Amino acid sequence: MRQTSQISKLTSLSASLAASLFLAATSFSSAVSAADPAPAAAPMAEAPAAKPAVPGKPKADPAAGEALYSNGDASRGVTACLTCHGPKGQSAIATWPKLSAQHAAYTAKQLKNFKDGTRANPIMMGMVATLNEQDMNNISAYLASQPVSQGVAQNKDTIELGQSIYRGGIAAKGVPACAACHSPTGAGIPSQYPRMGGQWAEYNAAQLLAFREGTRKNSTQMTTIATKLSDQEMKAVSDYMAGLH
Ligand code: HEC
Ligand code: HEC
Repeated sequence: MRQTSQISKLTSLSASLAASLFLAATSFSSAVSAADPAPAAAPMAEAPAAKPAVPGKPKADPAAGEALYSNGDASRGVTACLTCHGPKGQSAIATWPKLSAQHAAYTAKQLKNFKDGTRANPIMMGMVATLNEQDMNNISAYLASQPVSQGVAQNKDTIELGQSIYRGGIAAKGVPACAACHSPTGAGIPSQYPRMGGQWAEYNAAQLLAFREGTRKNSTQMTTIATKLSDQEMKAVSDYMAGLH
């Protein structure tokens, strides 16, 4: 089980690596020539590239992703993602996560995880039921290229606690600094470590709870960390992260 998910993770990572490097335009992609993403993907790809219809290794098509995201596809029963996640992935409501500027490989992994049930959420499990892997990669590539939606920390009383957890962890409980993986600015680190900055605090706090309670079991790293956090610490660090940029 674990091995299988590792393999599918690697497959999804290499499949969308070129797209995420090309489109995310993060500081990390500058290590690679953005104009020529193919060589960057080469060390990870086992098969020769550029065969359009190879199952499991589709090239991402952000324009097709945008169309599906914004309009859905009534003929296939695909709901427009925009209905909840907002134009360009910049959701206006805290129960629906912002998806803009997120690393494509991370987003694609989440969609696969809703489908395989390792991330259990009734709404999104219904949404992905009609998507194939190519749709997932296309939508993820589109969203990665959209501008970041910034947020603000709301709770002055918990900012200090949130900041100290994010930057330094909680040594006494063996909680690592969130910044080590999610980066000091909250931009994350492509492709594995998702962007946090600007995300709705309520959504992130709910995810930490889901990791702790086991409804989201698609990351052993995050389950281990969330198990050590109290409700108050989850809320404090989530509020702090909302204002990161
Ligand atoms: C009816 C509202 C609704 C619609 C429509 C919808 N979503 Fe979602 N989406 C949600 C909710 C609620 C969550 C949070 C799920 C959870 O708590 O795990 C979510 C979570 C996600 C996540 C995880 C984000 C992260 O940061 O991990 C992704 C990716 C996503 N949705 C993509 C899509 C795509 C692609 C579509 C269109 C095919 C779509 N959603 C349509 C409500 C919706
Ligand atoms: C060792 C690396 C690592 C550290 C340290 C870490 N994370 Fe994560 N985090 C991850 C990975 C990997 C994921 C993506 C898991 C997946 O694939 O679904 C993640 C996902 C998350 C998510 C879900 C985001 C979303 O959009 O749904 C939240 C919230 C989160 N982390 C919060 C934290 C907080 C708070 C801390 C510090 C207390 C922290 N993380 C420390 C690796 C880490």
